[in-house]
Amino acid sequence: MNLLMQTSAWPALRSKAIQLSRVHLRNFFEQDKGRFARFSARYDGWLLDYSKQRIDDETVTLLIALARELDLASGIRALAAGEEINFTERRAALHMAMRGRDGGSHSEVVRDCRAALEHWVRQIRNRELLGATGQTITHVINLGIGGSDLGPRLAMEALEPQVDGPVVKFVANLDPAALHLALRDCKPAHTVFIISSKSFTTQETLANAKAAMEWLADGLGSAAVGQHLFAVTNRPAAAQELGVPAQRCLFLPEWVGGRYSVWSSISLPLACAIGMQAFGEMLDGARAMDEHFTSAPLDRNLPVLFGLVDFWNASGLGLETLAVLPYSHLLRSLPAYLQQLEMESNGKRCTSTGDLSRVPTSPVVWGGSGIVGQHAYHQQLYQGTRMMPMHFIVSRGGDDERSRMVQLNALAQSAALMRGKTRDEAMEELRNAGLSEQEATRLAPHVACPGNQPSTTVLMPPVSPRALGQLIALYEHKVFVQGWLLGINSFDQYGVEYGKQMARALASGRLPADADASTRGLFAAIDGDQG
Ligand code: F6P
Repeated sequence: MNLLMQTSAWPALRSKAIQLSRVHLRNFFEQDKGRFARFSARYDGWLLDYSKQRIDDETVTLLIALARELDLASGIRALAAGEEINFTERRAALHMAMRGRDGGSHSEVVRDCRAALEHWVRQIRNRELLGATGQTITHVINLGIGGSDLGPRLAMEALEPQVDGPVVKFVANLDPAALHLALRDCKPAHTVFIISSKSFTTQETLANAKAAMEWLADGLGSAAVGQHLFAVTNRPAAAQELGVPAQRCLFLPEWVGGRYSVWSSISLPLACAIGMQAFGEMLDGARAMDEHFTSAPLDRNLPVLFGLVDFWNASGLGLETLAVLPYSHLLRSLPAYLQQLEMESNGKRCTSTGDLSRVPTSPVVWGGSGIVGQHAYHQQLYQGTRMMPMHFIVSRGGDDERSRMVQLNALAQSAALMRGKTRDEAMEELRNAGLSEQEATRLAPHVACPGNQPSTTVLMPPVSPRALGQLIALYEHKVFVQGWLLGINSFDQYGVEYGKQMARALASGRLPADADASTRGLFAAIDGDQG
C-alpha cells in the first residue's frame, strides 16, 4: 500500500475535501478579511497568492502535516545531496548542481562542462569560429526535442530583448517542413548545427541530423561537414561516430534529467544568443530559488506551498486539469515547457512501493498567453461545467500603460472567475441595461457565471535572466514536492519509451503480427489505398 494512504493526515484531508465541496470561494472571502494575508507568501520580490484556492486554515495545516509525515524535508535534502532520488534508474537528479556555485560533489564535471560551453560560446559570439570555407558563422540551428529543445527555446523567447548573438533557430519536429523552413535563409558556409540529444538515440533528432548533414555536404562537400557540427550529449562516442569532432561534443551528465537540463550545455544555442553573462544570471536566479527551497520552513517555502496546493487540487480534490496562464508575452512558451516538466515528471501511476497510486497524479497541464486566451478559451472557464484550476503568472514592471492593463487583466480574470456572477446579479445587470423583466428573465441563466474557479497568482519580478531562472526552478521544485507526496518517481519516463518502440516497429515497414485492425487499416490507407 503506498505511503500516502498510511498517513494520518490523508483521511483528514479526504474529509476536508467533502466539507469544502459545499463552500463557494466567494464565501471564504466574505467571511475572512485576512485570507489574502494568511494564504500568500513572499520571497525576494516574488509573491505567491494561493488565497483563491479551495483551502482553509485546517487544510493548509493538514497539508503541511502530510508533508511532515512523508518527510518531505528529507526528500529535499536527498535531492540536493545527489542521492539516488531517481529510484527506478538508480540515479541522482542533480540539476541543482549544474547551477551550483561549486557544483558540490560533482564540481569537477560541472566546471568542465561550463568551461567547454564558455569556450564555444565565445568562439561563436566573437565570430572566431570559421566554417570550412573560412566564413564566419552567422546561423546556429539546434536539432533536439523535449528537454533538448523546450528549455532553451523558452529562454530564447523570454530573453529575446537580451539576444545579441548569431541567428539561433530550434528544430524539434521530424516533419521535413520544420528543418526546411529553418534553412530557408541559411547558407551552409555560415551555418552550424547543434545535435542536442542526451541519449543520442532519439529518432526524430537523428533523422533531422542526417538531413542537415546531407544539406551541408551538398553545399560544402562531405569532408567539410564535421566543421559545421556540434553535439550536446551523454554519449560523445556515438556523436563522434556520426561525424561530430570530439572537441565539439559537449558533455551532458547522466544525473541531469532531460526536462531538467536547461542549466547544462543543452543551452549552448541559448548562450550563443544571449551570452554567458546573461546565462550565468539565469543560473544565479535558479540557485537563489534552490537556496530558498532547501532552507525556508515548509510553511513559508514558495515551491513547497505551490506544490502542496497543486497536489491538493489534483490528488485531493481530483481536479483533472491545470491551466498555466502567463500574463507576459515573453513567457508565452511557458505552458508548453511545463507540459513536459509536469506531465513527463508526474504523469505516472506506479509508486515507490510498486503499488498503483490510489489517487490521481499529474493533472493535464494546458494554457497559453494570458491576455490572448481571454479571447479563446476563457469562456469555458467562466461558464463551463468543470472546475479548472489556474496559475496566473504576472510579471511586475513595464512603464507602458499596456503593461499595467495586462497586469490588471490577470487580477480581474482571477477575481471574476473566483467570484462568479449569480443569476440575481445577472438579472440586475440586464435590467440596468434596459431589458424588460421578461427578456432579463429569459437571458439571466445564460449570463450568470458559477465562479468558484480556483487559482494561484504568482507575482514575479520583471522578466530577466535571473527572474526566469527563479521561475523555472520554482516549478521544478513544485513538481518535486508533488511527486514526493504521491510517492512517484518524477525523474524517469518509461511510458514514452514504449511509444518509441511501437514507432520503430512500424517504421521498419513490417507490422507487428498482433497489430490491431485499426493500425492495419490506417497503415494500408496512408499510401492512398482506399480499401
Ligand atoms: O520524451 C522522452 C525523452 O526522453 C525526454 O525525456 C527527453 O527530453 C527527450 O525525449 C529527448 O531525449 P534526448 O535528449 O535523449 O534526445
